[in-house]
Amino acid sequence: MKIGIFCSGGDCAGMNPAIKAFVEECYIRNIEPYLIYDGLEGLIDGNIKKAEHSDVSGIIYRGGTVIRSSRSKRFFEKHYRAVAHQNLKNEGIEKLIVLGGDGSFRALEVFYDDFGIDFIGIPSTIDNDIFGTDYCLGVDTALNVIRRAIDDIRDTAASFKRAFVIETMGRECGYLALVSALTCGAEVCVIPELELNLSSLEKKLKKEVEEGRTYAIAITAEGSNMSETIETWFEEKIGLESRVTKLGHIQRGGNPSVFDRLIAHEFVVFALDRLEKASNNHHTIVTKNGKFDFLDIETVSNGKYEIKPELLKMGRILSGLNQGE
Ligand code: F6P
Repeated sequence: MKIGIFCSGGDCAGMNPAIKAFVEECYIRNIEPYLIYDGLEGLIDGNIKKAEHSDVSGIIYRGGTVIRSSRSKRFFEKHYRAVAHQNLKNEGIEKLIVLGGDGSFRALEVFYDDFGIDFIGIPSTIDNDIFGTDYCLGVDTALNVIRRAIDDIRDTAASFKRAFVIETMGRECGYLALVSALTCGAEVCVIPELELNLSSLEKKLKKEVEEGRTYAIAITAEGSNMSETIETWFEEKIGLESRVTKLGHIQRGGNPSVFDRLIAHEFVVFALDRLEKASNNHHTIVTKNGKFDFLDIETVSNGKYEIKPELLKMGRILSGLNQGE
């Protein structure tokens, strides 16, 4: 059997450990592993190579992906999908593993409908916004990158009596911001999933400033679009000089955490088990309450990821809401 692997969409830490595990597991199982470079664009351009051990040695600790990734517009056109299919046929590759988000899974679902190419998706995005899974590869590393950045910014905040508004990535999902705010001791958290009560936060923070607070930290999710508003609010309502730091793409990089290395390997083993034994695979792996399972792509695409209520409840106070509201 020949199986190809590729990355699609935003890169994240954990992709390299997954690629390494894939190649090594394939050799153990007498499967021929293929690396598809540059994501769906590479699939169209025939950028495909039979993997050797040397391709994946020394990559486990590296962020990003050595086989690179892309967001492909061409793949939405049937003509280019036919070219991609021919490239796979030329190599004899019958099945695929894709590391990506739900947009990539949807693209592969169309490919499956066109040509019946089996695939398993491994949820891989720092946004942690894929329906049906508690965890996406790369999130733990991203949270640790954010934690280090917030800890460092706190040094300046404290030294300069400033308020800092620190913006995380996550598209429309506030998971990264919420978990970071809770674990890094922020005073304010602004995410799309929670209403924001600025007047209640104002009352609370003003009182704390009167009692001696000299600096403050707010974490904002990019999807809230509120970073500049909070900066002005700190200056005008709380009386603290304020700065915005948008963490940006540093959140996608970095040395993969132990958790991401291990779950990358587990995802790969689980995907290969299914690809080896079953046919008609057009599913994504999900992890729920510590257990792995599969969901079909339609279910994943039609659902909307929701942060678990217990976590949201813990964050309410940082958005100026009562616990019970
Ligand atoms: O989906 C991952 C992500 O990093 C989002 O958090 C962010 O909104 C987006 O990708 C940034 O995309 P790009 O790298 O194309 O600027």
